[in-house]
Amino acid sequence: MISVLFVCLGNICRSPMDEAVVKDLVAKAGLSAQFHIDSVGTSDYHIGQPPHWGTQRILSTYGVPWEGAARQLTRAELSHTDYIIAMDRSNLADIQELGRGLSPEGRAFLLLDFAKGAKLRDVPDPYYNDNFEEVYHLVLDGCRGLLAHIRREKGL
Ligand code: 4NP
Repeated sequence: MISVLFVCLGNICRSPMDEAVVKDLVAKAGLSAQFHIDSVGTSDYHIGQPPHWGTQRILSTYGVPWEGAARQLTRAELSHTDYIIAMDRSNLADIQELGRGLSPEGRAFLLLDFAKGAKLRDVPDPYYNDNFEEVYHLVLDGCRGLLAHIRREKGL
């Protein structure tokens, strides 16, 4: 089982979008049984809440199903997750801080490092500017690249 964990600040806008998009790509590739895919926030701000309405709406526009409620990243999951995927450099710094001594560095990446077209390094936070459409296209580009990377690395 390959574990992939998407991390943002609140786990209501960006990382639930990644989780839904990658689950959809993996299902369409017939690989769901090989993956455990989840998302979390570094903060406790929205624990238990469903994705933001903007994330729900853009996923429904593109026909991508979603599931789950917000939860907070734990230190334990930083010890064993294969691919820890941060939305921005602030998330990455929080991951390194919480995972001190567990060496998450070699397993933690920025999503947009896998994107072909993106000029940005950080996925902008639509919580502040409502730009769910732009974020969806960045997320899709990053998630396609990430899945291709994992498939190459794991020989799938
Ligand atoms: P996310 O967006 O990290 O993409 O889920 C945010 C959600 C909530 C807050 C900030 C960003 N907040 O400050 O409550």
